[in-house]
Amino acid sequence: MAVSKTLNVDLGERSYPVVIGRDLLGGAYELAAHVAGSTCFVVSNETVAPLYLDALTESLGAKTVKSVILPDGEAHKTLTTLSQVLDALVSARASRDTTLIALGGGVVGDIAGFAASCYMRGVDFIQAPTTLLAQVDSSVGGKTGVNHAEGKNLIGAFYQPQCVLIDTATLDTLPDRELSAGLAEVIKYGAIADADFLDWLDTHMEQLLDRDSEALAHAISRSCELKAQVVAEDEREAGRRAILNFGHTFGHAIERCQGYGDWLHGEAVAAGMLMAAELSGLPAADVTRLRELIRRARLPVEPPAIDADAMLGAMGLDKKAVGRQLRFVLLDAPGEARLSADYDEDRLAQILGAGA
Ligand code: NAD
Ligand code: GLY
Repeated sequence: MAVSKTLNVDLGERSYPVVIGRDLLGGAYELAAHVAGSTCFVVSNETVAPLYLDALTESLGAKTVKSVILPDGEAHKTLTTLSQVLDALVSARASRDTTLIALGGGVVGDIAGFAASCYMRGVDFIQAPTTLLAQVDSSVGGKTGVNHAEGKNLIGAFYQPQCVLIDTATLDTLPDRELSAGLAEVIKYGAIADADFLDWLDTHMEQLLDRDSEALAHAISRSCELKAQVVAEDEREAGRRAILNFGHTFGHAIERCQGYGDWLHGEAVAAGMLMAAELSGLPAADVTRLRELIRRARLPVEPPAIDADAMLGAMGLDKKAVGRQLRFVLLDAPGEARLSADYDEDRLAQILGAGA
């Protein structure tokens, strides 16, 4: 095993480590050290559990390990699966010192974290993310929740884990399309906060697609570093944290209009980032460069055909909106983002019209 990096998410008494390395599951990393009580409840899904539940259990040494296995897919990130987790905890008579462990992608992580936030008014939880998207984004920062038929992530809580354990070897089994979806969020960090990282991605995109271990470890740790800095500044998204939603106002609306699960979250974010870059009024060369990077990551550079009014309706439920006023994360330059309600309405109509 090799812990290549341990980062800290600095949130005072709610601070926690993000441990990154290869082959950490299976007993090499002592995850039990982050479990206060004697019992853990692993939340996973029918795809990931057969691959990694045994290895995770070994990491927990003498702890008692129970599990609840959910159906796979974004369409199952609902109050129904949340109830399934809570029912399993109640049936097992799980006590307050139980630790929930999310083993899977962002869907499992968001559901398990939300269940941990509300079971007995809050029990400990750990994130063991197994998709690139979850390793660079959803497992860090404490956003948890489920979708509502009317909108993405409308029901949830801010609730931080005790620890995030990123075993990059789990990416070996990840389908190519999911790897690319994770790269969308990696590109996002460069676009909003680190122009040098954007340059690095330009020169390392092929290695990342080939799953070169070193390149992936760097992309994951730099992404987590950038996310941890933003979360430490603004845990509950009173301001700066909103920049992490670059492309998401459009992306969430695409997911909502297409039906959850048709386009992957990362694919919708990729097309959404380009729509937001165009709304930003960046020089054409910067937009073209971002488009090229997204295309090379094998991600969509155009939104699907959706009626402009349907997109506007879906965007109206965006959590960044104030009253009826939409706000977008816009780029002043590559690597520099701001949240703004000041955008060109005609340009927005044009961008939405182009997708219709
Ligand atoms: P996902 O959880 O649906 O996982 C993608 C697919 O990969 C699933 O079929 C899953 O079973 C499979 N899978 C997972 N790990 C695997 C592995 N190692 N090998 C083989 N298959 C594997 O999707 P995702 O992209 O990880 O997460 C998307 C979700 O994350 C969305 O719901 C999005 O809203 C949420 N999200 C949350 C945050 C946050 O801050 N909480 C941030 C970004 C995204
Ligand atoms: N993925 C956006 C956030 O964590 O704030």
